[in-house]
Amino acid sequence: MTLLSLADIHAAARRLDDVTVRTPLLPCPWAGDAARSLLLKPENLQVTGSFKLRGAYNRLASLSAEERRRGVVAQSSGNHGKALAYAGRLLGVEVTVVVPGTAAQVKVDAIRHQGATVREVPAAELATTTRMLAEEYGYVVVPPFDDLGIIAGQGTVGSEIFEQTARLGVVPDTVVVPVSGGGLISGVAAALKQLLPGIRVVGVEPELAADARESLHSGHRVSWPTRLTGRTIADGMRSSSVGTIPFAHIQEYVDDIVTVSEDEIRDTVAVLARESHIVVEPSGAVATAAYLHRGDDLPAGKLYVCVVSGGNIDSGGLPHAVHCRPPAAVLPEPARRTMALEMRDRCERCERPLLIEAPSARICSYECTFCVSCSDAMQDTCPNCGGELVARPRRTPSATAEPTNGPPGR
Ligand SMILES: Cc1ncc(COP(=O)(O)O)c(C=O)c1O
Repeated sequence: MTLLSLADIHAAARRLDDVTVRTPLLPCPWAGDAARSLLLKPENLQVTGSFKLRGAYNRLASLSAEERRRGVVAQSSGNHGKALAYAGRLLGVEVTVVVPGTAAQVKVDAIRHQGATVREVPAAELATTTRMLAEEYGYVVVPPFDDLGIIAGQGTVGSEIFEQTARLGVVPDTVVVPVSGGGLISGVAAALKQLLPGIRVVGVEPELAADARESLHSGHRVSWPTRLTGRTIADGMRSSSVGTIPFAHIQEYVDDIVTVSEDEIRDTVAVLARESHIVVEPSGAVATAAYLHRGDDLPAGKLYVCVVSGGNIDSGGLPHAVHCRPPAAVLPEPARRTMALEMRDRCERCERPLLIEAPSARICSYECTFCVSCSDAMQDTCPNCGGELVARPRRTPSATAEPTNGPPGR
């Protein structure tokens, strides 16, 4: 298989020149010590809130005039779709995006806001629906990661890291990158390993969706069912397997793939908000989570760069992360307890007070809580964050709260 060349990545960089933000390298004195230090590459600052704009614009800008007239269709957990919708508007290309029913609402709304058409389907039907729409309407399929044009665009994250660290007069020992379908890490690793052969590139994915790690370690592409990958709060990291083109790049260029827990991801979303003042979604936080919590799993070194890949988080997600798990040093114990109770006083679907104690009331892995009638009516997945719903522990009912009028729109 032909792997990405530096010329491909440089050509993508020229196409993206006045479209994407050259995101800075952010020093993190709060995360370093005498032994090691951290720079962040905050792609949440892209205009669409994630690195995905790089690949999406590069791919659309490379379409022929006839392909642009036909329009494009893509499956996406949200960020690729949002980036395509934005790029499509800039280039005058009609865009249809197929998203899973569990996609973050903030992403679905943003795709529609850019004028693209959205089709919501169960996660297991994303690929078949995308193919069916392409056949029926003649759309060009723009995959989220299994495509050299997409990977070349994502590779500009790597070439920028090279140029920016060179300007600072430093060479990173290890660059840490989120991996799901593998488009981002393929491009970043292809760029960096060709520019700096001695550098280490390490991928990170959630423990609950660790198919890429298993694939790299076993030597063949492994697929995890969406029933399993759908458990992680990192909604951009629920793809079942890495793509075939990404896997060839990962085998050639990536040193290792490590995993992080859901608690570590949540904690890192909060830490990045507090310490680096950036809004990061769970998927965007996994690389930094590995640096903060799994340092022993990363190659030894002095300077690490972590790619913060996106910041499109639902409005409830950030307060949850920031308030539910404050460090002991920041908030005294009584204040923490009050906050946790406030967060759980109302059903997060219908907003009625959680008055009733019953075994069927449920809580998801992101600690969204649902009342008896909502959780009875739901599948096993949280409609807010997509996490698995489990029986909720018994709690003391709130005596003062009054019911409200029905569920708000999602
Ligand atoms: C914020 C974010 N980070 C990381 C990823 C993973 O990227 P890839 O599928 O190219 O590995 C995604 C994918 O949607 C994402 O949205």
